[in-house]
Amino acid sequence: MTLADIGGTSSGGVDRQALSAEEIEAWRCVMGWAREADLQVATDDAGNLFVILRGSDQKAPPVLSGSHLDTQPGGGRFDGAYGVLAALEVLTVLAERGVKPCRDLIAVAWMNEEGSRFAPGMMGSEAYAGVRTLEEIRAARDATGMTVGKALDQLHAAFPGLPRRPLGAPLGAYLEAHIEQGPVLEAQRRVVGIVTGIQGKQTLEVEVRGDKGHAGTLAMSARRDALAAFARIASALYTEIGDHDPQVKFTIGHLCVEPNAPSIVPDRVVMRIDLRHPDNSTLTALGARLRVLCARHATPCQVQLMPLVDAPSNIFDTLLQELIETAAFRLGYPSLRLLSAAGHDARHLASLCPSAMIFIPCRGGVSHVQEEWAEPEHVSAGANVLLNVLFQLVRPI
Ligand code: GLV
Ligand code: MN
Ligand code: MN
Repeated sequence: MTLADIGGTSSGGVDRQALSAEEIEAWRCVMGWAREADLQVATDDAGNLFVILRGSDQKAPPVLSGSHLDTQPGGGRFDGAYGVLAALEVLTVLAERGVKPCRDLIAVAWMNEEGSRFAPGMMGSEAYAGVRTLEEIRAARDATGMTVGKALDQLHAAFPGLPRRPLGAPLGAYLEAHIEQGPVLEAQRRVVGIVTGIQGKQTLEVEVRGDKGHAGTLAMSARRDALAAFARIASALYTEIGDHDPQVKFTIGHLCVEPNAPSIVPDRVVMRIDLRHPDNSTLTALGARLRVLCARHATPCQVQLMPLVDAPSNIFDTLLQELIETAAFRLGYPSLRLLSAAGHDARHLASLCPSAMIFIPCRGGVSHVQEEWAEPEHVSAGANVLLNVLFQLVRPI
């Protein structure tokens, strides 16, 4: 709740954008808690934050756990923050008990998971996993034209002398705790979700170009109205893609109309499409169909598609899934296995090291909204399972 005050909105939500002044303050808060617990802190060139409990074998690859501190605009208190604080709590408990792990145990806050200020998201974990180069990431701009590079330099300047870990340094394992952001655990009265993988996602930017004109004088038959073309495209996509089957998730969540003036025929529309499906071949087929529909319904305007994200469904490490299941059972928490419908940094970590996720329920399954809530007993249950599994991975020899 203290962290949620940083960027807290008057309606009870949180607006803490990646690399913003609020996120810098959140770093200070987390670093303060880390130092109180005698833990070390570090960053890297991609603006990821690390809190480290030193282990005895410095040559062994560390075990990492965490999530992100940035939020959606008007987002909730738990998405991301929960996973960072659960990991920090595990390190704190072990440090308080004087446990020296056999290898470093590190809590992490990945830079820009949400991708709302700088798109697309998951920049910190993508840079770490080598999915995108740092140069490419630094060149991305927010709506004001500010680059990630400049914002990253400001973040680092706010913490002079903070040691930097090398990007992509080998890892032993990664575990991410998170609220489910969906209704399954709550509906089935389970406390712990053993996440089997993350459903596939494609993000595309679609640009429609037409011609500007006078809204009073230009004949309808002579217009190349980019917004009219958008309306035809959107209608076809909602029907053919959005209604394809009950598992598809199709969203147009961002729209930009130019010149966006009441009496000018619009000549440019840019939309962002978020398309998800658990089955990879269906996702690929829907992505291809979407391209055909955009081209067909754009006429007489022109349309251009730019893929931003193409991430198929993945499968998390089965041994880690078993460790989570056993820990939940031993601690008396009812659990179930489920595929994550939302995206997470763990997707990219899974390409580097054995990775898995622990879900807890959230009220009404809602997330990315100010009403997001998780019950305190579920928050601690997830952290207890995390502690149990992490301890097994770094147990002193
Ligand atoms: C993550 O925030 C997502 O949109 O899945
Ligand atoms: Mn999240
Ligand atoms: Mn999110």
